[in-house]
Amino acid sequence: MIERLAWVTTRGARGRDEDEPLVLPALARAGVAVDVVDWDDPHVDWAAYDRAVLRSAWDYPDRLAEFLPWLDRVAAATDLVNPPATVRWSLDKHYLRDLDAAGVPITPTTFLLPGEQADLTHLAQGDFVVKPAVGAGSRDTATYGPEHHDVALAHVARLHAADRAVLVQPFLASVATDGEWPLVYLQGHFSHAASKRVAVPRAGAVEDLFAEETNAPHDAEPAQVAVGDAAMEVVTGLLGTPAYARVDVVRDDDGGCCVLEVELVEPSLFLPYAEPAAVDRLVGALVGGPRSR
Ligand SMILES: Nc1ncnc2c1ncn2[C@@H]1O[C@H](COP(=O)(O)OP(=O)(O)O)[C@@H](O)[C@H]1O
Ligand SMILES: [Mg+2]
Repeated sequence: MIERLAWVTTRGARGRDEDEPLVLPALARAGVAVDVVDWDDPHVDWAAYDRAVLRSAWDYPDRLAEFLPWLDRVAAATDLVNPPATVRWSLDKHYLRDLDAAGVPITPTTFLLPGEQADLTHLAQGDFVVKPAVGAGSRDTATYGPEHHDVALAHVARLHAADRAVLVQPFLASVATDGEWPLVYLQGHFSHAASKRVAVPRAGAVEDLFAEETNAPHDAEPAQVAVGDAAMEVVTGLLGTPAYARVDVVRDDDGGCCVLEVELVEPSLFLPYAEPAAVDRLVGALVGGPRSR
């Protein structure tokens, strides 16, 4: 029985998670006592909870050296959702290689580890994106044009100097015009989709915890769900079924559907577009789902 649950956030995210006001009352109705706690609060007694649910710890990419040991510490004291191995896999976009190796279509990606020289010449004709391998909320992500190679190289060098691996991708034109489509999976089953547009700076930087987003409901197309399902099959094969997951798909420049991101750390679940059914499904996953340890 899950009677006490820690809903894990961070100070700067309080009041900003759109899923939270829908889920907390539903958990209360299900008889669960929930505390909203900051992940880095040293006074939290994690062992006092039946489960800790990682929800809006949005500052972890900048505090990885604290966050990674925290995952293991909390998972030793209680049932952490999603479990540490799942979180670790998903917080580094190198997972795109696992998807690619399994034949799941991904956004074309070049990885640059610290110390590796960035060569942008193959991108010379078009727009491209530079982003950190460990990142969230579009922070430290920027788009560039062929005229920006020097600024982009400085961006790569800045991330490398902070010992952060970098992804360089061609800028997929449809992301600017049509946005991206988050597909939400609860207990491994497709639940609902949304449409999301993110204001990513051109040759600039996001200052807040996350870039501004414009979101809307979306009826997922079968081709999108097929790609989401394929990504989830890889996830499930490697890590077991996550309580919640989000696969963000985009349209590539040939009109096909590919994965931009798989978010298993603290995905926004776009519940306002799918309540009350998705809220009930999430509560079912959190209250009834199997323990991860
Ligand atoms: N290859 C790309 N083409 C076009 N836009 C992109 C591309 N990669 C990222 N973006 C934009 O940058 C945003 C952040 O990138 P994303 O891969 O989702 O990382 P995160 O959400 O983890 O910060 C996306 O929402 C999208 O708007
Ligand atoms: Mg994203």
